[in-house]
Amino acid sequence: MRFAVIADIHGNALALEAVLADIDAQGVSDILNLGDHLSGPLEAARTADLILARDMVSVSGNHDRYLRGDPAALHEWEADCYRELTPAHHAWLASLPFSRVWKDDVFLCHATPREDNHYWLETVSPEGVVHARPLAEVEAMAEGVSQSLILCGHTHIARTVRLSDGRLIVNPGSIGCPAYEDDLPYYHKVEAGAPHAAYAVIERTAHGWTVEFRLVAYDSAAAAAIASARNRPQWARAIATGRC
Ligand SMILES: [Fe+2]
Repeated sequence: MRFAVIADIHGNALALEAVLADIDAQGVSDILNLGDHLSGPLEAARTADLILARDMVSVSGNHDRYLRGDPAALHEWEADCYRELTPAHHAWLASLPFSRVWKDDVFLCHATPREDNHYWLETVSPEGVVHARPLAEVEAMAEGVSQSLILCGHTHIARTVRLSDGRLIVNPGSIGCPAYEDDLPYYHKVEAGAPHAAYAVIERTAHGWTVEFRLVAYDSAAAAAIASARNRPQWARAIATGRC
């Protein structure tokens, strides 16, 4: 049992293409996809077409939920992408489940098992420092999930946390958005520090789940140029450098 885990593509079709080629090169066919697929000033429709051309096991992210809601309530940088999408793309977004179980022993969610917009493995201090959440809090948020492997995305930070009972939580990092700023709960930055497209390959072994984090180099300058052309310089800088 060996499979790829991807998350937080955010409309970066160039990064997704590079990751799909890397997945194919490894002979991996199953792809689990943790949401926030299209939102961003990049190539939302082309990203949706790339995803729909594959038989992925996907869940909804908070930004996928926003795209299903009132268009007037979207962030400015999401509104462009909303207008690009076809009825088929919207129908696919509407079909995405909040969470799901794959092959009985893998649990997929976007952020946490109960919320699509909360940090799980990280927390933010009032000073804006992002750090690893205390284990007891992570475990409390995993209550009720019985699978031995639990997958989440949302914070764009590649990380594993092993719970006291042996369950393993994995965040594969972000394919398309290596850095961002947020005002909630306090102003903070998340920065991968490099522009690579991040994902994970996971395999079940006799000793548990082996996790391989992969950072795929791709034409991030071209992706950044798309954001620049759409007058989103912060996105362009983040995509080009992995820093805000
Ligand atoms: Fe998210």
